[in-house]
Order: sequence, then structure tokens, then C-alpha cells
Amino acid sequence: MESQQNTVEADATADSSFLAAAFREIFYSPMNLALLSIICFLVYKIVRDRCEGPGTRDLAQQPAEPELPKLRRDFTVKELRAYDGNQPDGRVLVAVNGNVYDVTKGKRFYGPGGPYATFAGRDASRNLATFSVVANDKDDYDDLSDLGTMEMDSVRDWEMQFKEKYEFVGKLLRNGEQPTNYDNDSNDDDDNIDAGTKKDE
Ligand code: HEM
Repeated sequence: MESQQNTVEADATADSSFLAAAFREIFYSPMNLALLSIICFLVYKIVRDRCEGPGTRDLAQQPAEPELPKLRRDFTVKELRAYDGNQPDGRVLVAVNGNVYDVTKGKRFYGPGGPYATFAGRDASRNLATFSVVANDKDDYDDLSDLGTMEMDSVRDWEMQFKEKYEFVGKLLRNGEQPTNYDNDSNDDDDNIDAGTKKDE
């Protein structure tokens, strides 16, 4: 009887030390933490889509706002900063991998008070590569040359998502780079979309 009780206690201790080890493994490794974030995000997306069905979410959560005219121009890092959603027209721009996107329709993410408001009016590439939401306040163009292959792959994956969901606006200009003249652009095509994209080097 006593030995049975001892076995039960030993099992309970083994279980809790296993849980503690698993917990430590996940929360003390940045890579595991990043993977956990991605899993949480994907699970949330699946559950939400099942509960709400396509199309219902935007109507329910986003107040109808008048659409802003399309913008097509290049930006320096400093110029981009003015488009963080706090200005009168409320437009929000975010740069990813050398290209600027109009993310105004994703204001609940990037607008003032949103979870990713620190990306607004900024180059979010490094944040997306390193899973950080700490505001990047540098005024210089970030060529991302110190990032590793996996981090750059992550930047490109994020950029694909931005490209699919949001309007391309123009390039993020390197220091001293001249802006493109888009006056004769049809505005409907994305011919220049790879203009700013950082190439595999
Ligand atoms: C535990 C951590 C995290 C959780 C649970 C989480 C969860 C979410 C959720 C629920 C959404 C909304 C999805 C939708 O409605 O379509 C979202 C969007 C987003 N997340 Fe996270 N997130 C986390 C961390 C991060 C981090 C560290 C980053 C990048 C640095 C990030 C970047 C983004 C971006 C850019 C979007 C918006 C995508 C868009 O414009 O549609 N997330 N996240």
C-alpha cells in the first residue's frame, strides 16, 4: 500500500519536473518563443475564421472610414515618419524590405494604440525579422546587411503578406537616393513593386 503511494508521488514529481523543464525550454529560448508566437497566431486565425466566417470580421470591427486617395511616391526614412496615423488624414504607412505600403485599412494593428503602432511611419523590416515591437527610431536607411538568412527569409515572408493585403506606395529611399517620378504611372499596376526590395546578396 505504502509502496503504491510512493509510486504515485514519484509519478507526480516526475510530471511536474517534466512540465517545469518544458516550460523552461520554451520560455528561455528566443527561437522557441518566436515559434510559440507563430503557433498562437495561426491557431487564433483558424479559430477566428471558423467562428466568424469570411468577410464578417472587417464589417464588425472596423468603422467605415472614407477611403483616402491612392498615394504613389518614394520616401526617405525621415519623410515616412509623418505617416504614423496621428496626422489629420490618419493615413498609416509601413516599410518592409525596402518597399512602402499603405496599411491604413489595417489601422487596428498599426494605428495609434494598436498592438503594432510602433511600426507605423517606420521601416518595420528589422522588427519583423527579430520579432520585436520596440520602436525603431533611427533616421538612417537600414540595409539589413547584418541579418542572417533565416531572418531575411522571415522579412521576405512578411513582405509577401503585406504585398497581398496592402497597397504598394513606393520605395524607401537609401541615404542620398533620388525619388522615382511616378507621374506617368497608371497607379493600378505594381510594376515598381520590387524597386526597393533588397536583393539576395
Ligand atoms: C505572443 C505573441 C503574439 C501573438 C499572440 C500575436 C497575435 C496576433 C494576432 C491575433 C493578430 C491578428 C490577426 C488577424 O486578425 O488577421 C496578429 C497580427 C499581426 N502580428 Fe502578431 N502576435 C504576436 C506577436 C507578434 C510579433 C512579435 C510580431 C512582429 C514583430 C507580430 C507581428 C504581427 C503583424 C505585423 C500583424 C498584422 C498583420 C496584418 O497587417 O494583417 N506579432 N498577431
